[in-house]
Amino acid sequence: MAKRTKSSDRWLQRQRKDYFVRQAQQGGHISRANYKLEQIDQRYRIIRPNQRVLELGAAPGGWTHYLESKLRGGMLIAIDPLPITSGQDTYVIEGMAGEEAVDQEIAEILDGAKLDLVLSDMAPNISGIRTVDQARAMDLADMCLDYCQRWLRRGGALTIKSFQGEGLDEWVATLRKSFVKVNVTKPKASRSASREVFVVAQGFDD
Ligand SMILES: C[S@@+](CC[C@H](N)C(=O)[O-])C[C@H]1O[C@@H](n2cnc3c(N)ncnc32)[C@H](O)[C@@H]1O
Repeated sequence: MAKRTKSSDRWLQRQRKDYFVRQAQQGGHISRANYKLEQIDQRYRIIRPNQRVLELGAAPGGWTHYLESKLRGGMLIAIDPLPITSGQDTYVIEGMAGEEAVDQEIAEILDGAKLDLVLSDMAPNISGIRTVDQARAMDLADMCLDYCQRWLRRGGALTIKSFQGEGLDEWVATLRKSFVKVNVTKPKASRSASREVFVVAQGFDD
């Protein structure tokens, strides 16, 4: 059995205490991530039946599970290089968003149709160097905006996880040029100590 360090002990204690992790386990959901999306959705009403949704950074599938329960008949394309637990109607692409082959698959699935919502819970590979990690997070944000420019319908929405730090305010200002309403929010299920925030942009106007 692997040896436990003090820091892994601390992590375990935090996990045990964490209300949302307990809720997720008791409720049979895949992760606390589920609650973050649910809380964002309750506040901004971004997910509706029959929408076409692109979900970036979907593994292990907490958001996917929530989306499937809300879309009922819509189209969900879920992307991640790691395995995603999903229902049979969800299009799963195993790969990295931004790779040409992945983009091609998205285009083939959409077959000329436009998306109602682009969602991203992607997290960059953490180097531990704050400026590097923040720059990587902002690169992911740029990629999401690029996807909107290619495939989001007029009036559609974008919701992404990002991190407070260098570049976020400028990026949000850029977003305001393409969306009618932009909010930066932190759902209760997101740990207060984390720099994680969610940007909810609605009313795409290309
Ligand atoms: C916080 S997890 C997502 C959790 C998920 N929303 C859930 O509810 O289960 C972040 C994910 O982003 C993925 N990721 C990072 N970069 C990515 C990329 N370029 N394309 C697709 N997925 C990516 C990682 O593999 C990881 O699984």
